[in-house]
Amino acid sequence: MSRPPTVKPPRSEAGRRLNIGAVRSSFAPWNDPDATPLVRFEGVTKRFGDQTAVRDVSLDIYPGEFFALLGPSGCGKTTLMRMLAGFESLDAGRITLAGEDLAGAPPHRRPVNMMFQSYALFPHMTVEQNIAFGLKQDGMDRKAIDARVAEMLALVKLEAFARRKPDQLSGGQKQRVALARAVARKPTMLLLDEPLGALDKKLREETQFELMDLQVQLGMTFLIVTHDQEEAMVMADRIAVMREGEIVQIGRPEEVYESPANRYVAAFLGDVNLFETTVEAIAHPMAHLTATETDAGFYVLDDDCPAAGATVWLAVRPEKMRISLDPPSADVKNVLAGEIWDIGYTGDWTNYIVELPGGTLVRVARANDRRVVERPIDWDDKVWVSFDPDAGVVLTS
Ligand SMILES: Nc1ncnc2c1ncn2[C@@H]1O[C@H](COP(=O)(O)OP(=O)(O)O)[C@@H](O)[C@H]1O
Ligand SMILES: [Mg+2]
Repeated sequence: MSRPPTVKPPRSEAGRRLNIGAVRSSFAPWNDPDATPLVRFEGVTKRFGDQTAVRDVSLDIYPGEFFALLGPSGCGKTTLMRMLAGFESLDAGRITLAGEDLAGAPPHRRPVNMMFQSYALFPHMTVEQNIAFGLKQDGMDRKAIDARVAEMLALVKLEAFARRKPDQLSGGQKQRVALARAVARKPTMLLLDEPLGALDKKLREETQFELMDLQVQLGMTFLIVTHDQEEAMVMADRIAVMREGEIVQIGRPEEVYESPANRYVAAFLGDVNLFETTVEAIAHPMAHLTATETDAGFYVLDDDCPAAGATVWLAVRPEKMRISLDPPSADVKNVLAGEIWDIGYTGDWTNYIVELPGGTLVRVARANDRRVVERPIDWDDKVWVSFDPDAGVVLTS
């Protein structure tokens, strides 16, 4: 069997957009025992007074990776990133980059650059002066600076705006200037703290793809901080989900979404229905569970399911449930009867909230793949919700 590549293959100009998926799925240095991480966090802890902002974090990031730190506000994402950039000291543990301990190295001596949440552009300088700033500080000669600035302007498609000041730019353009400035010195690694937080939804989605393109073009390692699960899922090769200073799970977007480590991760990454259940019996490959609240019986795959008697949570994503006005056929294993409690129509999807007899609410999402439906499901309708044995995940914590 061939090894997963440790370098992302370059994408041809023509096929760039379309190939992101293909590039991504073959890039998996973390599965290669011979691959060397670029950055290693080893048992890193940071305290502010009596509060522990980051607790015993260990984490490897590989060259060429687009890595996301994901978690709610205040969980320690920025602090972790600032320690790598050299803006915060460590209380325990160490961070190495290309095998070298970063302890004691001031920020400007580290081959990383951080793009701040606020962009922090110099208001009195033009776009090109902003981009040139770090290069001047490095003592690069004038000609080389001009060439690099031109290259960066082309990279972020702002050639026509070189002489403008930041206040003559839109939010999206400011973001690009900040990005160009951050990569102008060609750092080994770019650190992005909530880089798209100030943009509106539509622009944010476009910019996500641009960032992914840019990362592959530059062949740079990106570490991004975000509290937006969709943003992390779209862009990152791997995601570390954080909670109160700790890493709860690290994995590819589809791993953390489809196989969450626990209820916290399941609920943080999108909508999920969680049923508290008791394991009745295991008959490989199936487990039989009964819901604590409703006595409903479930048949699911027994992967990682503890023995009979244990309390477990069955997590089922709304899009993996079906909803119908007629009862499903007798061979369908998991069936719940209920009544429509709420309907949310978003155009492409309809989200149904169904109330079960005991009062439990279940969310079902259905793709609107037809323009006209003969008899749409309506408020107060009696409905049937069903799902397949492999649609749910059994969680023990
Ligand atoms: N300089 C600081 N002094 C005191 N507390 C801080 C400082 N920086 C961060 N914190 C605290 O550490 C925790 C983690 O903060 P932060 O890393 O900014 O979280 P996030 O980026 O995930 O929102 C928060 O409770 C925050 O209030
Ligand atoms: Mg932050």
